[in-house]
Amino acid sequence: MNFLSIRSGIKLLLLCILGIHALTGSAQTPQPKDSTDAALAQYRQMLQEANPADLYAAKGQALWAQARGPKAQSLRTCDLGLGPGVVKGAWVRLPRYFSDTRRVQDLESRLLTCMHDIQGFDEQELIDLDFSKGERLTIAQLAAYVSSESQGMPFNVPQTNPFEREMYAIGQALFYMRAGTHDFSCASCHTQDGRRIRLQDLPNLSTPAGAGFAFGTWPAYRISTGSIWSMQQRLADCYRQQRFPKPKFVSPATIALSVYLGVNASGQVADAPGLKR
Ligand code: HEC
Repeated sequence: MNFLSIRSGIKLLLLCILGIHALTGSAQTPQPKDSTDAALAQYRQMLQEANPADLYAAKGQALWAQARGPKAQSLRTCDLGLGPGVVKGAWVRLPRYFSDTRRVQDLESRLLTCMHDIQGFDEQELIDLDFSKGERLTIAQLAAYVSSESQGMPFNVPQTNPFEREMYAIGQALFYMRAGTHDFSCASCHTQDGRRIRLQDLPNLSTPAGAGFAFGTWPAYRISTGSIWSMQQRLADCYRQQRFPKPKFVSPATIALSVYLGVNASGQVADAPGLKR
């Protein structure tokens, strides 16, 4: 499969649409459901039919089954919360509390745990790598695969354990915490309906539909970067847009935010890996 031709095809299509519907995305005023929305929905539908993210999910599936790492093991015994090796439906129940690590973990931090415990990778080394590099690309590919195995299922992120409830409260507090040079919080950009920036919907993450759309479509293939982005990378980039320091990979703050988004998305249907601007 030729990535370059897929990418240039998609970019061409994007440029055509941009030409017809020059940015209506003044993020200042709520946008009515108009013909631009309809055109965007149609364009996304067209792209979705050939989403390059599916190639990353296929690669992730192969990596899951492959003996790798210092211990030359596959991830077939990795427990994502539903028992060793169970991938189907695991993602819509994450983040959750794991008794072996005594932490609430999102998909990526749990994959990291499995890669360390089962395959013998050095956890800190992977945390220190950049997104999309080496084994961090592996994690994004694995995440694309695992999420694809929950496609069409409703989110049901648990809140039964006190640690899970605490992480939700922390995530909520972080979501509304204003600070930094621009005094932004996540809420500054993500608590109104119908906003859009650069052809990308700016979902209202405090509502089930908004959180479901935002949380349930990552990992995603990003046309603008030509690469797969995981939820961790999405959150790190929003912290950059917020002019905050870059959070560490799988830091508790990022996991708390994912708990907040995942619980808000309860009952919404998972549709990852997605396709984004
Ligand atoms: C300055 C505005 C701004 C702030 C502050 C901000 N974001 Fe975003 N966010 C965006 C934009 C713009 C996008 C669309 C992505 C793009 O096209 O670059 C986005 C996209 C997202 C998405 C994916 C939405 C989708 O539909 O795919 C999530 C999830 C998200 N942000 C979460 C957060 C969280 C959590 C915070 C706080 C840590 C935050 N954002 C802070 C502007 C912001």
